[in-house]
Amino acid sequence: MINIAIDGPSGAGTSTIGKMIASKLGITYLDTGAMYRAVALYVVRRGVSPLDEKSVVPLLDEIEISYSPDKRILLNGEDVSSAIREHSVSKAASDVSKIPAVRLFLVAKQREIAAHNDVVLDGRDITSYVLPDAKFKFFLTADVEERARRRYQELKERGAQIDYDTVLADIKDRDFNDSHRAFAPLTKTDDSVLIDSTHMTADQVSEVITGYVLGNAQKR
Ligand code: DC
Repeated sequence: MINIAIDGPSGAGTSTIGKMIASKLGITYLDTGAMYRAVALYVVRRGVSPLDEKSVVPLLDEIEISYSPDKRILLNGEDVSSAIREHSVSKAASDVSKIPAVRLFLVAKQREIAAHNDVVLDGRDITSYVLPDAKFKFFLTADVEERARRRYQELKERGAQIDYDTVLADIKDRDFNDSHRAFAPLTKTDDSVLIDSTHMTADQVSEVITGYVLGNAQKR
């Protein structure tokens, strides 16, 4: 199986790029952040704090994450693709992702999918923890202001009432959270190819990655 692992901080564009590459190469795309968001949405809807590990863990038995034929993410059968993008779910996802049991629950699912499919996976711990032996590993980043600007634009386009400074503060907060948690934090592994997209378009980044993958597909 060909597994392409992409990690990076919030707003680095890993999911936009992951989708583009998967479509160019004709393989599956798996947005692992969406899985953490779906768990966070369930927890919040149940009125539980995403930081309350003791209360969150038993809820995992009630959660079934699956995909519709057109690749929408389903939480217990409900299409939550839009609901998980709400601003409030972002912080909850970052919080819930600190809980080791939540990570193990989702990582098992991610590894299972990667074992049976040619797939592009993006997230925070794919290169370091989920698939350390993936054939292709990339770390995508950009300056924090640029990442905030992109996220702000995206939220605005979706009609969210939010200002740039809030988005920037939020991204900084999530950067800290995601890279300082005890279990499987965001980090660049030595064998990941670093791409700084601050001054690159999504098309350029996806060209670089697909070019690299196609150029090295026969090697190793
Ligand atoms: O990529 P995203 O913003 O949709 O991810 C939401 C949160 O999920 C992010 O703040 C951290 C967490 N996450 C994670 O811990 N590990 C992953 N592989 C993907 C996301």
